[in-house]
Amino acid sequence: MKVKDKDFQLFIDHQHIAGRINELAAAINKDYEGKTPLFIAILNGSFIFAADLIRAISVPSQISFVKVTSYDEMESTGNVKSLIGLNENIFNRDVIIIEDIIDTGRTISKMVEEFNSLGTKSLEIVSLLVKNKERSQNTAIKYTGFEIPEEFVVGYGLDYDGYGRNLKDIYQYKPHS
Ligand code: IMP
Ligand code: MG
Repeated sequence: MKVKDKDFQLFIDHQHIAGRINELAAAINKDYEGKTPLFIAILNGSFIFAADLIRAISVPSQISFVKVTSYDEMESTGNVKSLIGLNENIFNRDVIIIEDIIDTGRTISKMVEEFNSLGTKSLEIVSLLVKNKERSQNTAIKYTGFEIPEEFVVGYGLDYDGYGRNLKDIYQYKPHS
């Protein structure tokens, strides 16, 4: 599969993704019984994951979207920009952040810092993919879809330079050897 100018190989197919999302949703439904969580999805990457996850949630809930970017093409630029688009009052709310992928953990730790300063009642993270559990360990990720190796991935909302978000499955970059 070619995305822009690079070759990618099938890594996690959509049935496998759907199955795992149902398991994540079941865990969240159980943990949040009697509560009304506010999901906050981080754009752009998590839009497809968020859409599928939220439809498997059965507890009364709300969803909102924020934006923060740290990636320049295939490399982390290292400078995480500030959060934009948070219109909800999250004070005293049970907030669940929806992320597509956690790599260095910089983006998510910045979000956690900002949300904590706004007085959430509770704050948890659901991430479809976690690249390096050890490295992102300083931020506890309650719900993880798949732990994956360091390689760059695209599809199912994740992009390579803006391309590939539309792919149903997740593909992994395979440089020619
Ligand atoms: P972190 O701040 O290094 O944890 O980077 C997190 C963000 O980088 C994610 O929300 C993604 O948007 C992006 N990202 C990290 N790894 C990948 C990847 O393999 N493919 C596409 N985007 C990625
Ligand atoms: Mg993202």
